[in-house]
Amino acid sequence: MTHQATQPWWKEGVIYQIYPRSFMDSTGDGIGDLEGIRQRLPHLVDLGVDAIWISPIFPSPMKDAGYDVADYCDIDPLFGSLEDFERLSAAVKDAGLKLLLDFVPSHSSDQHPWFLEARQSRDADKRDWYIWRDPLPDGSPPTNWISEFAGSTWTFHPETGQYYLHVFLPEQPALNWRNPELRAAMYDVMRFWFDRGVDGFRVDALENLMPNPDLGDNPPNPDWVESMGPARSHLPVNIKHQPEILAAGRDMRSVANEYDPERLLVGEIYGTTEQLMKYYGENHDAFQLPFNFLLIEAVWQAEPLAGMIRAYEAALPEGAWPNWVLGNHDRPRIASRIGAGRARLAAMLLLTLRGTPTMYQGDELGMENVPIPPEAVQDPWERNVPGQGLGRDPVRTPIAWETGPGAGFTTGTPWLPIDPRPEVAVETQQADPHSMLAFHKALLALRKREKALTLGDLTGVDATGEVLHYRRTHQGRTLAVALNLGETAAPCPGTGDCLISTHGTTTGDLAPGEGRVLAQ
Ligand code: GLC
Repeated sequence: MTHQATQPWWKEGVIYQIYPRSFMDSTGDGIGDLEGIRQRLPHLVDLGVDAIWISPIFPSPMKDAGYDVADYCDIDPLFGSLEDFERLSAAVKDAGLKLLLDFVPSHSSDQHPWFLEARQSRDADKRDWYIWRDPLPDGSPPTNWISEFAGSTWTFHPETGQYYLHVFLPEQPALNWRNPELRAAMYDVMRFWFDRGVDGFRVDALENLMPNPDLGDNPPNPDWVESMGPARSHLPVNIKHQPEILAAGRDMRSVANEYDPERLLVGEIYGTTEQLMKYYGENHDAFQLPFNFLLIEAVWQAEPLAGMIRAYEAALPEGAWPNWVLGNHDRPRIASRIGAGRARLAAMLLLTLRGTPTMYQGDELGMENVPIPPEAVQDPWERNVPGQGLGRDPVRTPIAWETGPGAGFTTGTPWLPIDPRPEVAVETQQADPHSMLAFHKALLALRKREKALTLGDLTGVDATGEVLHYRRTHQGRTLAVALNLGETAAPCPGTGDCLISTHGTTTGDLAPGEGRVLAQ
């Protein structure tokens, strides 16, 4: 039996997140766009990823960088037009890649025609497409909930005398997924893009899909410290992970299953491992890949990592496919979290664990957080809660394709500063066989050649001192992975031919920060 014919592409594929504002600007306005992505597709083919997920490109007032959608079925002029989208989509297919878009179901923009209508009056047709509640007798908000970006989750609308709910900014009113008409309209949005050849969605902020104000106040968080940000001062038990989300997840999956081959749904969920596992659905009938962010929160030491990997694998429902994420547009860059010298080790871990990996653009270049001067801040989170390191601009800076002004990213002024160091530029790294980019290409090529790294079993996950090691086995072929997270050289557990090393050394002790894949 060959597995190949029966496995969906995403089990062996690597997903690459494109943050469109910062990938490539083709117009000179300093902001990346769809035509820019099309022009730079060769980079992704050369790199060896299989699918791209593009963060939101829909019409938006851009209060939250496009995660405030004013029309789910069009393209924001900043990024191009529907024709540009068609052209990009065709080019992606020609390049042999899959295309995932970002579906933002939990809230729209306050400029979406649905919300404009809903706020007209209490009897407006679409009033119930959003979540409205009366003030408490003293006029205060219906619950004590705090929004992700600080402040109450409730904004008063004086004209109709009620508060509306928003888990994020006031300009991002929460959609009411308990309303069947709203749900039907959102499923049609999915079909709109599936009909245009989109291979799947990354589904935004899923744990927030069905907040339940009728459950009342959230309890205070006894472990809260200020650096966690205001939203974490309470435990959001009545906002997040409400059980009804699962029914909506099943409906979304049914829509995905109307297509052949079935479309992929990747869920963005922050929560405990136990909460996460529920999003696969009871019979694998919800999200094929609920994002696993454990590596984003991880302690980078061998023993805790080994324990974390084993616990995640053990918690997976029977037959569920794992996945791993190292970074995204919301979290500090991996190279900044664990140090540039360790970023290769992290890439080797991501690309050799069992499960679909998602890479964030620029991590293949070892990009680091770029300091943003106060006057250049764009992220509303940083504006609302300044100076605490919550802002996300440092991880959203444009890719440097070349060295020099504009960095081959733009002919204009980039919307965020570009890291000026020549060593992070694609051009520089292409010319260097030892660059981070070259390392990623080699690693991705190895992953493609060796089924053990994609479809293989994962066994022997353990730590010896500061060396994390495990095996991947498929049809009699076993590869061993050894990663030295320590500060000193350590014996390489296991023997065999070294297929790739972070440091280029193939025998002897593992240097500090060195990882190897061995064929056994
Ligand atoms: C998700 C996005 C984030 C956005 C938020 C609200 O977490 O990744 O960027 O701010 O949802 O839509």
